[in-house]
Amino acid sequence: MLIEAEILSMKVKLKHKEAGIFEETRFEKIHNVIFKNSDLASVAVANEIADLIRQKQSDKKTCVLGLATGSSPIKVYEELVRLHHEEGLSFQNVVTFNLDEYYPMDKDNTQSYWYFMHEHLFDHIDILPENINIPDGSVKTDEVHQFCIDYELKIKEFGGLDFQLLGIGRTGHIGFNEPGSHFNSGTRNITLDHITRMDASSAFLGLDHVPRVAITMGISTIRKAKRIVLMAWGVNKGSVIKDTIEGEVSSEVPATYLQHHNNVTFVLDEGASNKLTRINTPWLVKNCIWDDELTSKAVVWLSELLGKSVLKLTDKDYNNHGMSSLLVEQGSAYNLNIKMFNKLQHTITGWPGGKPNADDTNRPERNSPAVKRVIILARTPMMM
Ligand code: GLP
Repeated sequence: MLIEAEILSMKVKLKHKEAGIFEETRFEKIHNVIFKNSDLASVAVANEIADLIRQKQSDKKTCVLGLATGSSPIKVYEELVRLHHEEGLSFQNVVTFNLDEYYPMDKDNTQSYWYFMHEHLFDHIDILPENINIPDGSVKTDEVHQFCIDYELKIKEFGGLDFQLLGIGRTGHIGFNEPGSHFNSGTRNITLDHITRMDASSAFLGLDHVPRVAITMGISTIRKAKRIVLMAWGVNKGSVIKDTIEGEVSSEVPATYLQHHNNVTFVLDEGASNKLTRINTPWLVKNCIWDDELTSKAVVWLSELLGKSVLKLTDKDYNNHGMSSLLVEQGSAYNLNIKMFNKLQHTITGWPGGKPNADDTNRPERNSPAVKRVIILARTPMMM
């Protein structure tokens, strides 16, 4: 885990291009950095963007940014606004291209991404309005195709995206590239996945109001960016992050296409990283310090994985699943199993609310348990 002081060296860490080069990260195919929380992470991302803008300024060049919406980038935009107000960061040399927009969607609709971007960023910085590009959700249906071609061409005219900021949907979408999107897809309109619409339903006050279609940059458009940073916060993103970083490249999880990019970093908080192998089952990839908590977690995990009760786990089971160092500490599977069995047994009580003044250090608590009245409630299956 990175701590605040390490933020100072973040530029080096974020620029690190190699994924999976260490024993611990050997299942990982995308470079990632884990922060204690999303606030710290967002500051690091904003700093990288600010540095790029300044660098381009001193080179007298335009800085072309690909920007994202959703809850993930909000703090990054907040920090960029702060840097503008308090540290004089200017956006006069910046041209932006947003990833996507719902369709149909008017700009002044508060649900639009046009509105979102102005509310969170553009209204508070000195970017030139003509340098802002967001897919237009109000073009006529028969003009969408040409609009998408022009959007793509305009990015090209500016020399491509220097930096692309991304979030990730629970379907594994980036932008609105839903499962099934092609590796070479360009800017286009797309039908939204049901899960994506469900996730957006609270913002639209109900699923029925969520648009079914969106315009999105394609996978190929995103892939051409010189640098990509994807952010994910919270345990809800844990599964899709693991699938994206450790899984096979597949159109089922479009974000996995990023495995083929040579300058991508995933910036995660603890929640979003909690399913990665090195975080969730660290004994599989490194030597661990076996405190009580980790020991319990590992033994229960092994028992569930092998479908065996704790008392039946063998030395071989432990050795085959990265826990040989634990066995060395404990002497044998037999010792460890008994210890764990007793520990688990002590979590079971006939007094769910706790028995006042009882000494339950030893189990069974007594030879002949006190007689209790038991009521069993069972549902009978309905006969059709
Ligand atoms: C929407 C956007 C995506 C974004 C995703 C995740 O679907 N089109 O670009 O990455 O939401 O949203 P959040 O950051 O709120 O989790």
